[in-house]
Amino acid sequence: MSKMNELMARGTELLGSDYAILCGAMSWVSERHLVSAISNAGGFGVIACGAMTPALLDTEIAATKALATKPFGVNLITMHPQLFELIEVCAKHGVGHVVLAGGLPPKGSLEAIKASGAKVICFAPTLAMGKKLVRSGVDALVIEGMEAGGHIGPVSTSVLAQEILPTLADEVPVFVAGGIGRGEAIAAYLEMGASGVQLGTRFVCATESIAHPNFKKAFMRASAREAVASVQIDPRLPVIPVRALKNAGTEAFNAKQREVANKLDKGEVDMMEAQLEIEHYWAGALRRAVIDGDIENGSLMAGQSVGMVSEEESVADIIATLVQQADAALHARG
Ligand SMILES: Cc1cc2nc3c(=O)[nH]c(=O)nc-3n(C[C@H](O)[C@H](O)[C@H](O)COP(=O)(O)O)c2cc1C
Repeated sequence: MSKMNELMARGTELLGSDYAILCGAMSWVSERHLVSAISNAGGFGVIACGAMTPALLDTEIAATKALATKPFGVNLITMHPQLFELIEVCAKHGVGHVVLAGGLPPKGSLEAIKASGAKVICFAPTLAMGKKLVRSGVDALVIEGMEAGGHIGPVSTSVLAQEILPTLADEVPVFVAGGIGRGEAIAAYLEMGASGVQLGTRFVCATESIAHPNFKKAFMRASAREAVASVQIDPRLPVIPVRALKNAGTEAFNAKQREVANKLDKGEVDMMEAQLEIEHYWAGALRRAVIDGDIENGSLMAGQSVGMVSEEESVADIIATLVQQADAALHARG
């Protein structure tokens, strides 16, 4: 067994994959083709449920099962109004791993997932929250730094890793996400105690990814500094920042925030509705870019590791490269 496999052992055991390399769920991108390709290549694919209805998720899981020969997971957003129906859909299909994203799991959700026999993986934004999640029985944690693409927290991956791994890596497997583009970084986080890693941006331009050719081209052209976090326009309207490539859509998002803040002022919506409207905006904008290829007005969610994406390659090649780099780095250190 290579040193890398040894360090990943708890992760691969939990996931049932060859490598503890997850492809994080990416709305519109992480559908049946990419998810099955990742799992079949030895990684761990995760379906992005996003705003899907239970019926749509049902179809997507069935289609993924038809293509996948290895286990894969499903990512559910905690604020989805039909979260419990979605959990039932996963249970019906015997999905082995549910990843809960977007905030603290609502009451009863962890129990419902575990009752189906599935493992629960949650995001820990802080050490305190991570401890709380471990106490409530989660099977594994993901810690995701602000280098990542999509919705992000305020702390970098390197700092989160130092804050959380020394305390929680012995309790449950922890997967590190955000800003990973090469295997040397995977090796480093494994050495710090992580049981595996999660990448998103690096897999967007995979041959098997259905992202529009324009979307992929934008990724291949971009450098790290072009993947910027959105800014909050109105202090009363807390908007979770989103990291994306800068384009006309960036400005449109600021205009959208002003529009929603005005509605909030006039009492036309409450805070919950205002935040949901913002989230719907993102989902729509991402779809426009990923599916329709409108890379000017749509949202080009991308992490800083986008600078390390330079060509379209098969998932198997991407994983082989990451594994080779990680192995070589660990070997060189003796
Ligand atoms: C285009 C895009 C869409 C994403 N959508 C989601 C999502 O729907 N749910 C989620 O939990 N994370 C989402 N993410 C985050 C990824 O799952 C993953 O954690 C992140 O990309 C890891 O950081 P990296 O981009 O630096 O590799 C998205 C990321 C990207 C790039």
